[in-house]
Amino acid sequence: ARAVPVVAIDGPSASGKGTVGSMVAKALGWHHLDSGSLYRLTALTALRDGVDLDDEIGVAALAAALPARFDGDRVLLGDEDVSDEIRDEAVSVGASRVAVLPAVRAALFGRQRDYRCGPGLVAEGRDIGSTIFPDAPVKVFLTASPEARAQRRYKQLKEKGLPANMESLMQDLRERDARDAARAVAPLQQQPDAVLLDTTSMDVDAAVAFVLDLVRDRGLAAG
Ligand code: CDP
Ligand code: CDP
Repeated sequence: ARAVPVVAIDGPSASGKGTVGSMVAKALGWHHLDSGSLYRLTALTALRDGVDLDDEIGVAALAAALPARFDGDRVLLGDEDVSDEIRDEAVSVGASRVAVLPAVRAALFGRQRDYRCGPGLVAEGRDIGSTIFPDAPVKVFLTASPEARAQRRYKQLKEKGLPANMESLMQDLRERDARDAARAVAPLQQQPDAVLLDTTSMDVDAAVAFVLDLVRDRGLAAG
């Protein structure tokens, strides 16, 4: 039997992975996994439980036992909707810190693979095409200039009525980009078989159309 198809979308922070991944999944009628939310849920749980973010064994135990649930685009811990809370600055920084711990990545590995079921899966993160689904028939490396990405985050925060400062957003992006690219385990890198999609001057709809074309070109969906 042919393996269930996967569209792997990897790229740096605020490149549009979540937005594009969700829309591509909807258009195809496929499942959707935002793997970053698993790292965010792990960090949130550690912060709440007072587990030190450097305590690899302690944090990995939390990751293995996460009562994570996804309901459309909402992210739940048990019955609690934490979709907004996991986007907090402290949780964002925490997620990128726990993501360097090999035991935490190992604890989340099987869980991510379990989302692969028919008719298909769109998954985004940093290591989907390299580590989680290296056999994905469609791999996209989604990126944009740091300035464009900081601008997008700024707009997102303003639209939610949250405080936003361009300078500190740029600083935060640079630090997280560096941590994601430099870590020993599953660093963010464009895979040789991934298609580069630079959306610095491209809107969301054009990015979605580009990915859908790739899926159709591979004969994985009608249309
Ligand atoms: O939304 P943003 O791109 O800023 O972050 P995210 O995708 O929600 O991921 C949060 C953090 O988890 C990132 O800073 C990464 O360090 C980490 N992550 C990872 O290491 N591997 C993944 N597959 C997904 C996220
Ligand atoms: O998941 P990731 O951190 O990569 O990014 P996101 O949260 O999906 O997207 C950040 C913001 O950029 C969203 O408000 C999008 O509407 C916007 N945006 C985009 O995703 N893609 C473009 N080509 C232009 C803007």
